[in-house]
Amino acid sequence: MAEIKFQGIEKRFKDVVVVKDLNLTIEDREFFTFVGPSGCGKSTILSIVAGLEEVSSGTIYFDGVPINGLSPGERDVAMVFQSYALYPHMSVYENISFPLRVKKLPKERIDAEVNRVAAILDLEPLLKRKPKELSGGQRQRVALGRALIRKPRVFLMDEPLSNLDARLRIEMRAELKQLHRELQITTVYVTHDQEEAMVLSDRIAILYQGKIQQCGHPMEVYAKPANLFVAGFIGSPPINIIDGSLLKDIAILDPVLKRFEKTDIIVGIRPSDVVVSAQGDETVLEGEVLLLEPTGSDMWVDGLWKEIKIKGRVLAGEKITPGTRAFFKIPFEKLHIFDKSTGNRLGN
Ligand SMILES: Nc1ncnc2c1ncn2[C@@H]1O[C@H](COP(=O)(O)OP(=O)(O)OP(=O)(O)O)[C@@H](O)[C@H]1O
Ligand SMILES: [Mg+2]
Repeated sequence: MAEIKFQGIEKRFKDVVVVKDLNLTIEDREFFTFVGPSGCGKSTILSIVAGLEEVSSGTIYFDGVPINGLSPGERDVAMVFQSYALYPHMSVYENISFPLRVKKLPKERIDAEVNRVAAILDLEPLLKRKPKELSGGQRQRVALGRALIRKPRVFLMDEPLSNLDARLRIEMRAELKQLHRELQITTVYVTHDQEEAMVLSDRIAILYQGKIQQCGHPMEVYAKPANLFVAGFIGSPPINIIDGSLLKDIAILDPVLKRFEKTDIIVGIRPSDVVVSAQGDETVLEGEVLLLEPTGSDMWVDGLWKEIKIKGRVLAGEKITPGTRAFFKIPFEKLHIFDKSTGNRLGN
């Protein structure tokens, strides 16, 4: 088993702090994901767990035992790098089997394991090729294969699906989830793709500028974003953000909003909660339709109201066309309310 605990971790490069005040326990067998925009410190955290980077301060524990001084090999982690890091002179077979060959397992056993992993990753026809004869996505699958062939204490995966095309990425993430269910090995995963993070993970931590903004079950974070950054980052299409003062004009001021009358607030409303129709009254926002975005299952409408863009959803049968006016209904009970000065969530 492997529980990973970060206690007071800070990482500086020269005088730049890239990971701040990281206190977190990843549970044994958990699939845990760090998600955040480029440069927020995701890869740095994985490198710290792998032992490829030293911490500037703080302690990391595996199962309660400090591991700061241990080499990467002694930590028994398998890492898939953002940049594959395959051995160029070895074939796909040799790359995947490398960790087992180092352990000097019998040849039949190695063959069986390579075939098992190659089948999962669709690499069977490519086993004899060298990395330079592969596409980016194929290389990425080989890198995954090399990690999956082992049974380490911990899997560390840095954007392992980023070079796959959209379809294969969705297939592979289902495979990863299934594999995790079977192997039950603690997995720390890194991605900038919020949807991938949501789909895969038991818990996610949203990272911004080296600091965890919120940590929790994906649906909990979606339902109650702790601050404006998280609200804007989680959810697709992104949440609408409206300055609270703009809503004061709406005829019937909702009791929810009334509670915050004396505070400067920003509100968020998810596009899936905004219903757009051709008819409406003064209790809804009347705006100009800018754009329609059909996705197959949904039809999104971009509208302009008081010079801000609002996105909502049209129900089937509504006649809405760009250039006309439409009504954007904001259900007040679905509003997310944030303090304008701190960006932090207010109320529930
Ligand atoms: N060796 C280094 N020396 C100095 N600064 C570094 C070093 N490695 C990373 N950084 C900086 O630390 C910050 C975090 O980098 P990191 O690679 O962890 O980001 P990331 O979240 O993985 O980004 P991406 O999504 O682009 O991979 C960045 O500002 C980066 O420039
Ligand atoms: Mg990175």
